[in-house]
Amino acid sequence: MNKKILVTGGLGFIGSHTTVELQNAGYEVVIIDNLSNSNRDVLDGIERITGMRPAFVEGDCTNINTLHQLFKEHQGISGIINFAASKAVNESVQKPILYYRNNLNILLNLLDLMPTYGVTGFVFSSSCTVYGEPDKNPITEDAPIKKATSPYGATKQICEDIIADVIKSGSPIKAILLRYFNPIGAHPSAEIGELPNGVPQNLVPYLTQAAIGVRKELSVFGDDYNTPDGSCIRDFINVVDLAKAHVAALDRMLENRSESPLEVFNIGTGCGLSVLQLIDAFERANGVKVPHKIVGRRAGDIEQIWADPTRANEVLGWRAEASVDDTMRSAWNWQKRLRERGLM
Ligand code: WQD
Repeated sequence: MNKKILVTGGLGFIGSHTTVELQNAGYEVVIIDNLSNSNRDVLDGIERITGMRPAFVEGDCTNINTLHQLFKEHQGISGIINFAASKAVNESVQKPILYYRNNLNILLNLLDLMPTYGVTGFVFSSSCTVYGEPDKNPITEDAPIKKATSPYGATKQICEDIIADVIKSGSPIKAILLRYFNPIGAHPSAEIGELPNGVPQNLVPYLTQAAIGVRKELSVFGDDYNTPDGSCIRDFINVVDLAKAHVAALDRMLENRSESPLEVFNIGTGCGLSVLQLIDAFERANGVKVPHKIVGRRAGDIEQIWADPTRANEVLGWRAEASVDDTMRSAWNWQKRLRERGLM
């Protein structure tokens, strides 16, 4: 089996952890990243963990000529994992054109070039956001796709449809859509983790910054939801576990084990945890208090959603393994490492 893989957005949060797991599994990785939300130092972190430095192309996947050049220089790529995308929900409401342009053009360029360069497997980073507010939890892959609540969510839905249409049209490629729930934590070595740009929008980076004193306090958006403690419920998935799901998906396609050319899997733990429970877990696991206060609801938030990951467990042979406490320790160790490096 040819084990050379292109990881777009490979220096980002999920991309860097996936590169580590790919290299650990014997894959050779070529990363393309435009450094819009990452930096080159991530390559050093990957190398310190795995002893291998992935090939790196600084470039933008919206530029098809950059991709032509990459495929010519790095011959024999058999699979692509596509992380390159704009991903801030709030920003997407302000800048919809940027989101549709980036996320759709990147996908179209990659799908267009795959047959030309003999690339057969494609893993797409999708999101539980495609489900909207679930009618029931845990949610399975067959649940209805509801109208997206943001342009970001809409791009994920449209990208899923584009991939399905391209496969229906007779393209020789195979694809797996991974619908992530809420990825959190960092590599246990604290060599790589999440590097939020500016004020974090997501819960865990805000929480760790509040714990270390960069932010005054974490605002908990709402305690009047119809949930046991009133705060929202999510399925928080450890980023290393999530990374391993990508290796399982690639193995499956490249070893010709896919049951159909397009498969979709929920990637979550199967357990819902509330925002307040997650804060408790962080405090318990690390012995550190998180200054926080309850404020009003955040517009557009879903009340509760968690995965039914049975299909991924049984078909992909993948399962979330990390405990919430371990994940919270990894998030804190990473935050402390950023402080040591003078980055926070
Ligand atoms: C989680 C919970 C907030 C911040 C979104 C996207 C999803 C994925 C991840 C990826 C919610 C609460 C948050 C804070 C809070 N996208 N919260 N205080 O909204 O579930 O998912 O990000 O790249 O596709 O939809 O994640 O981490 O923003 O929020 O109380 O300061 O934490 O209200 O209930 P979300 P999140």
